[in-house]
Amino acid sequence: MNNHFGDYQNAIYLAGLGGVLPKYPVDFATLKARAEAAMPPAILHYVQGGCGDEYTQDRNALAFHDWGMVPRMLVDTSQRDLSIELFGSKLPSPLFMSPIGVTGLCTQDGHGDLAAARASAQTGVPLTVSTLTNDPLEDIIAATGDTPAYFQLYTPKNHELAASLVRRAENAGYKAIVVTLDTWVTGWRPRDLNNANFPQLRGHVLQNYFTDPVFRELLGADPASDLRAAVLLWVSLFGKVLTWNDLDWLRSLTRLPIVLKGICHPDDARRAVDAGIDAIYCSNHGGRQANGGIAAIDLLPAVVDAAGATPVLFDSGVRSGSDVVKALALGATAVGIGRPYAYGLALGGAEAAAHVLRSILAEADLMMAVNGYPTIADVRSAGASRR
Ligand SMILES: Cc1cc2nc3c(=O)[nH]c(=O)nc-3n(C[C@H](O)[C@H](O)[C@H](O)COP(=O)(O)O)c2cc1C
Repeated sequence: MNNHFGDYQNAIYLAGLGGVLPKYPVDFATLKARAEAAMPPAILHYVQGGCGDEYTQDRNALAFHDWGMVPRMLVDTSQRDLSIELFGSKLPSPLFMSPIGVTGLCTQDGHGDLAAARASAQTGVPLTVSTLTNDPLEDIIAATGDTPAYFQLYTPKNHELAASLVRRAENAGYKAIVVTLDTWVTGWRPRDLNNANFPQLRGHVLQNYFTDPVFRELLGADPASDLRAAVLLWVSLFGKVLTWNDLDWLRSLTRLPIVLKGICHPDDARRAVDAGIDAIYCSNHGGRQANGGIAAIDLLPAVVDAAGATPVLFDSGVRSGSDVVKALALGATAVGIGRPYAYGLALGGAEAAAHVLRSILAEADLMMAVNGYPTIADVRSAGASRR
């Protein structure tokens, strides 16, 4: 008999018989409320806030309710398989952790990136490490154990610096480079603006730059000895405006699979596939960049259709196991968890982040068990329809 992710609920109920309640909530609403009470306001706003009036980020989550799946009965789902193949690795589940640039600040000790890495090691859920971290990318991957990790690139304007970051990620053992396309400039984020708070300008989450030989050479000094100059250099280097013409150059930097993050239009997906990109990442950055109004999940089916055989990663608004199953039903190859694991880190470091991932996986697995889908292929062929 296989172990199943859904068994996590048995452990919780059994602990309850001994009088022990779960230390952290299993649902997103309670998790969010607990995080709101626990996190320092500036960090909470940075994690929770989004663009404009935050309509898009709210729609991202709410739109999952517009999609539904029809249960099938008299199917033996006593054995279930949620594993997938991605970038040459077999993964126990289709979940991954999306890149979150202030992960480092989500734990009180300032080493949230390492805590996220430990949660990844404990759950087998790959971590996508942001360019913006409080610990160097080499130290973070060292804490991921046997679980593969991916490196997310905010492409610097300076080509040598971009090449250096990618080379470091490749040498350190990352399994893919995720190039984020929608963030050469920061979107209009009223919560952060009202607090005049942008963590990078305060010298936070810049360790990948500060430890980089090209960055240090450009600075001509130790970043620790002149933080202001180092931050100003970072400002001047952040955010190359990428166009289709840059894909060949990006390809020349690495042998690793290249994933394009932020693709929401089927024509862009088609063009990326034609250009030989290894995977599409359909995401609207959790509504943090543009308040465009359409939920990412509603854009996923057309992107999947256009991508053909190319894997499609998805995130934005995933809050539960049933959201995960719906995204799979709509064709996602792998599903990214964002804010929920950041809240977990804030409540209890690696242990709580791992709990958040396990709870989401348990719900996904049990939904498959109850609805008659023993495998992801069954989920996909069942599909999802609009209510
Ligand atoms: C606080 C925060 C920081 C983020 N930083 C990055 C980042 O450094 N790189 C990136 O590609 N995406 C970043 N994202 C976007 C996430 O990768 C992901 O697309 C988003 O969180 C999905 O939305 P959701 O968390 O509401 O589900 C960030 C998101 C949040 C909430």
